[in-house]
Amino acid sequence: MRITYYHFRSVDSTNSWAKRRKNEFSLDEFAVISSDEQTQGRGRFKRSWHSPLSKSLNLTFAFFDRGLPPFFFSQLAALALLQVLHTENIAAKLKWPNDILVQGKKIAGILTEVESSDPNQLIILGIGLNVNMAEADLAHIPKATTSMLIETGKNHVIQHIQDMLVKKFISFYEEAKKTNVDSFQEMWHEKISWMLSKEIDIQQQEKMIHGKIIQLEKNGTLILLLDNGTTHTLLSGDIIL
Ligand code: BTN
Repeated sequence: MRITYYHFRSVDSTNSWAKRRKNEFSLDEFAVISSDEQTQGRGRFKRSWHSPLSKSLNLTFAFFDRGLPPFFFSQLAALALLQVLHTENIAAKLKWPNDILVQGKKIAGILTEVESSDPNQLIILGIGLNVNMAEADLAHIPKATTSMLIETGKNHVIQHIQDMLVKKFISFYEEAKKTNVDSFQEMWHEKISWMLSKEIDIQQQEKMIHGKIIQLEKNGTLILLLDNGTTHTLLSGDIIL
């Protein structure tokens, strides 16, 4: 694997940049794309993602893979994020499917996109981590949000956090490719299992569904028991706990 780095002071979105450049990546390349700011950062469900200059880590990995399901890469990224945050003494937790929270507040998110060109798929895996954002930088975000600065009371060197995350993700990916997909999925499953039996609300095509989580599978599938006694299977969504 050949690691290449692309860094910008400002870009619309590191994921969008990688998408536009999809025909220029080579098959053996693992591209690490970062930017000090994003002017049109994107989150899941077409939401915007706030990335003010030099306060957040805005990172995209772009690489070709054949075979592994795209969701697996989000799981690997979530595990890598958890380890990096734990190294920095931040008690981060995983929320289904792959949000990273600290005491119920979101600190990081993952947006994995795929550009297909058979038999290889180009994985575009975006990671946004709130590093040096103060309360005022987060005030306009409608959901409960936090940052490494707020949690620890100190500023962090974004490049250092990025280096740790890149190293961790690549080592997980190389190990997974050798044999170990299952053990990473189990690790992910263990981190998410605190959500079992929780009553949740989830937005599904214009309507809210309420139910109890009765099953969480290591491939990411979530099964809800609804009030009318039927079950509902989900592969993605935005949960309100
Ligand atoms: C989410 O909704 O939780 C996912 C947020 C993902 C944000 C990151 S920041 C780097 C990359 N570029 C983007 O435009 N989005 C992702």
